[in-house]
Amino acid sequence: MTWPEVEAHLSEGAVAVLPVGSVEQHGPMGLIGTDAICAAAVAERAADLAGAIVAPVMAYAPAPFNTGFPGTLSVSPAVLTSLVTEVCTGLLDQGFLGVFVVNGHGANLAPLEQVAAALPEGALRSQSWWAPPEVNDLRQSLYGDWEGMHATPSEVAITQALHGSKAPGAAADPPKKLSADYIRAHSGDRHGPPHQHRAQFPDGRVGSHSALATPEDGARLLTVAGSAIADEIKAFRAERRRDARRG
Ligand code: NI
Repeated sequence: MTWPEVEAHLSEGAVAVLPVGSVEQHGPMGLIGTDAICAAAVAERAADLAGAIVAPVMAYAPAPFNTGFPGTLSVSPAVLTSLVTEVCTGLLDQGFLGVFVVNGHGANLAPLEQVAAALPEGALRSQSWWAPPEVNDLRQSLYGDWEGMHATPSEVAITQALHGSKAPGAAADPPKKLSADYIRAHSGDRHGPPHQHRAQFPDGRVGSHSALATPEDGARLLTVAGSAIADEIKAFRAERRRDARRG
C-alpha cells in the first residue's frame, strides 16, 4: 500500500492486523518459515474479509529449544516484547484504534501478554490462528491426536496449499506418541535446552504426524481460520470504535 491508501483507511476508524510467527524447524517436511507463513496467510485472508489492513509479518521470535536444528533463528522473549510493543505504539500513534495480532507460534504467547500489559488498556487483542473453536474442530476431525504439538499436519497443510509440498522423508512414519502429562507440562512451547530437545525429538516433530497434511486440507483450514479470525477482528474493531466515541 501507499501512505495515502493507509491514510484513507485510517479515516474510517481502523484497526491494524499484525501477524507474528517464528523462524524455526518444522520437522523433515515442514518449512522453517511455517509459523510466519501461516500467521501471515490467515491474517491476510481475515483482513480481506473484515476490510482491515495487515502490517508486515514479524517473523523472528523465541525458539531457543529448536536452535540445535539448522535454520532455526531465535531472539529472546524480551526482544520480541520490545519490538512488538514499539511497532504497536507506532500504529496507535498514527491513529489505528487498536492492533489485532494473528499469532502462529506457541512461544509468542507469553511475550504478547507482556505487550498487552505495556500498551493502553484494550489496545491489543491476540489470537492464535489455530485456536478459534471452528478451527480446533476441523483440526480434530482431520487429524485427531496426530495433530500433536509441533510440525502439526494442519500448519504443514497450510504451507502446502500456498507453496507446494516437500517429500516426507523421515516424517513418513508416525512420530512417537506424547503422554497427556508431557502435553500439559510443555504447552506454550515450554521445552528444554537445544541439545536435550533434539535428542528427545531427533527429527524435530513433537507428537505431530506431519505427513497426514494435504494441500486440500490446507485450503480448508485457511478458509475456516480466515473467516473465524475475521469475525474476531470485526468485533474488536467495533469495541474500539465504541470506546473511541466515548472518549
Ligand atoms: Ni509452528
